[in-house]
Amino acid sequence: MCGIFGYVGSRNNAGQLVVKGLKNLEYRGYDSWGVACKVGDAVLVEKDIGKISAVNESEFAHDCGMAISHTRWATHGGVTAMNAHPHLNEAGTIAVVHNGIIENFQSLRNELKEKGYTFKSETDTEVIPYIIEEEMKTTPDFASAVRKACAKFDGRYGILAFHTESNTLVATRTGSPLIVGVGEDGYFIASDIPAFMEHTKTVQYLDDGEMLVTDGKSILFTDLETGEEHPKREIEITWSVEEAQKGEYAHFMLKEIMEQKDSIARAVNQDDDQIKVIADAIKNAQGTFLVGSGTAHKACMAAEYFFSVIAKHHVNVTSGGEFKVHHHFLKPESLMIVVSQSGETADTLEAMKVAKSKGAKVLAIVNAEGSTIDREADYTLLINAGPERAVASTKALTGQMAVLMMIAHAMNDKLHEGKTLLLNTVSSINDMLNPRYIDFLEEVAQEIQHHEDLYIIGKSWNYPIALESAIKIQEVSYIHAEGFAASELKHGPIALIEEGTPCIALLGNDEVTPDIISNTIELKARGAQTIAIAPENNEAFDTWIKVPDVGVAQAIVNVIPIQVLAYFLAVKRGKDPDMPRNLAKSVTVK
Ligand code: G6P
Repeated sequence: MCGIFGYVGSRNNAGQLVVKGLKNLEYRGYDSWGVACKVGDAVLVEKDIGKISAVNESEFAHDCGMAISHTRWATHGGVTAMNAHPHLNEAGTIAVVHNGIIENFQSLRNELKEKGYTFKSETDTEVIPYIIEEEMKTTPDFASAVRKACAKFDGRYGILAFHTESNTLVATRTGSPLIVGVGEDGYFIASDIPAFMEHTKTVQYLDDGEMLVTDGKSILFTDLETGEEHPKREIEITWSVEEAQKGEYAHFMLKEIMEQKDSIARAVNQDDDQIKVIADAIKNAQGTFLVGSGTAHKACMAAEYFFSVIAKHHVNVTSGGEFKVHHHFLKPESLMIVVSQSGETADTLEAMKVAKSKGAKVLAIVNAEGSTIDREADYTLLINAGPERAVASTKALTGQMAVLMMIAHAMNDKLHEGKTLLLNTVSSINDMLNPRYIDFLEEVAQEIQHHEDLYIIGKSWNYPIALESAIKIQEVSYIHAEGFAASELKHGPIALIEEGTPCIALLGNDEVTPDIISNTIELKARGAQTIAIAPENNEAFDTWIKVPDVGVAQAIVNVIPIQVLAYFLAVKRGKDPDMPRNLAKSVTVK
């Protein structure tokens, strides 16, 4: 939530540079944007509502070696230019951008008001430059004043700030990610790597409870509280600039859907011995907890079926934000598996912290290497899907499910069979995603685009896929879509079915298939327009979207046509599938 990007160094076009890089962070928030450039001893601020992608970099051609910028996902205060970051102190000498929440901002604001400060915005962020200004009255050194100010803030945040009389950029972190790009001619500090990837692939991570100070020539990492110096490693990232760009596709979402032809194979390409060690750890753990949020939570739900059917092993599945109340069940002998694309989701991270505080081991299945979850887990399996930029998660989900399915096979001493099945599934997906198939899905979207309600049913591992399908359709097309366990239909949701209501049934070729066919017939009898995603046709289906029969991997295949359908529903309804309203890719607030 919210993207931050700043630069300090020997280049003299910092304003243009940060605006360009910020466009690559737009997936983190796109309500409004803002830039502060240090020009001479003054600060020039430009901010507005809307998307940074619409802003022309050339408007920021100031002679400037230091700038900070922000793209906002509103939490405190509506979407207005005044609430957009950067925020300044009254004298206009301190500029701040911020990601996360200052939880005690109301009391700080009241204290500041009593001291005579007036506020221009409704944000929690505006207290930051004022508190720094207060601290500078007794601690004139800017970085030291920032350190003292941070001691007053509660909550999880990442802050980037500068003072007009100092040539240093200061960043602090207690939760929201900040990564340093180490360039030959300066330092880049951003919420995520794509902001500076065209300039450098050498990175350093600012950890929770740390502060960094840089003048563009050198950088110092310290403990935020004590000031003790922290040595840092430089890490080379492997993603290419091309991977993070749209290429020939109109949208990242479609590009990322199509990439599943390769990305699932990359997820499957794990070290066998490591997978076996993990399989044994699950067998030996006193309770295994699978935790994720949003789409990653649906991967965990699907995995519950994989572990049950393939490994005959019970696991507990909880969404990140719900985990805290279950902490009683964790023991030092328990295992938590956290699943996350970004590795930064606040709710998932919190669950992981609870597990660690109980002495339980944590295995992370993540996409973003070097993310907080990756670094703080005891073991990590990277799914290697490459950068996922569209807000709607697609290729990360199938990679996560593939890894979890492989582990389930390994628990049953069938790792080799599991890998072979998954690789055959990849080749079936490759055949399936041909231009004719995509055109057909576009036609189905064309037919149902004007409906305002849509229901999806599934059973067994197709049940979490029905839930995931609903998320996909809701978030990008804004159609009211809901997913149900097919058997639950008769217990309420069937009352919603009217003549022509589109209902999508997800099927495999397995023991529950006859049940879902019966449920589809029940829907049809109430006037529903039935659309089935299934390996075989049936007279109960008004529309049949054919998928290959891949046995226990059916969930991985069945979600893909839904992703394409959701994409076309968004486009046909005139919505931007990459940046749906009110959402952000990386949810770093609770
Ligand atoms: C947001 C994204 C979803 C994602 C969820 C969890 O809501 O829009 O696509 O599934 O966060 O994110 P994570 O990075 O932890 O997988």
